[in-house]
Amino acid sequence: MIVCVCNNVSERKIRQAVNDGITRMSELRDELEVGTCCGKCHSCAKRVLRECLADAKPATAQPVVFQLNAMAA
Ligand code: FES
Repeated sequence: MIVCVCNNVSERKIRQAVNDGITRMSELRDELEVGTCCGKCHSCAKRVLRECLADAKPATAQPVVFQLNAMAA
């Protein structure tokens, strides 16, 4: 699905940008120029970004592991 017609930005491109570490609309705007022309796509792009971040969270969450023997030394 095309999210930003003016700059030909698809949902797939936004998902890829999130996978590359983008978490904010301002970063998305800088990287893909989403919403930089007419601005009509802003709310849709924001919703897609939110959905992509929600989908990406379980995969990016890393457990914190402490080694007790290293802390005792
Ligand atoms: S549709 Fe995105 S700036 Fe126009």
